[in-house]
Amino acid sequence: MPYVVAEPCINCKYTDCVEVCPVDCFYEGPNFLAIQPDECIDCNACVPVCPVEAIYPEEELPEKWEHYTQWNEYLANQWREMGYNITEKSPPMEDAEEWEDREKSEEDILTWDV
Ligand code: SF4
Ligand code: F3S
Repeated sequence: MPYVVAEPCINCKYTDCVEVCPVDCFYEGPNFLAIQPDECIDCNACVPVCPVEAIYPEEELPEKWEHYTQWNEYLANQWREMGYNITEKSPPMEDAEEWEDREKSEEDILTWDV
């Protein structure tokens, strides 16, 4: 069961998670990261380092975020194909702190122009 990045990551993108991932399975979009499920080895290292508690093992995802399993697979594959593997920490989104408490949804996730 792979790990999944859920809604709290949107527009925050703190990227602490990528630094601890032993298999570099995070892929980066403009305002969200996704985990490629076939590459993730379920080590749990990323969970405690995310400041907004955005990452869950698939089987422990809160029900309201269950659809993020599909989103991670879909987006990670898309971004992998485009070459957006991320392995080093980078600055968070400009308004990251404000977005921690704001209402958001998967509709806010952006992707790159093709
Ligand atoms: Fe990477 Fe481990 Fe997190 Fe999977 S659980 S994304 S392998 S750090
Ligand atoms: Fe997102 Fe948390 Fe990683 S905000 S980029 S899942 S550290």
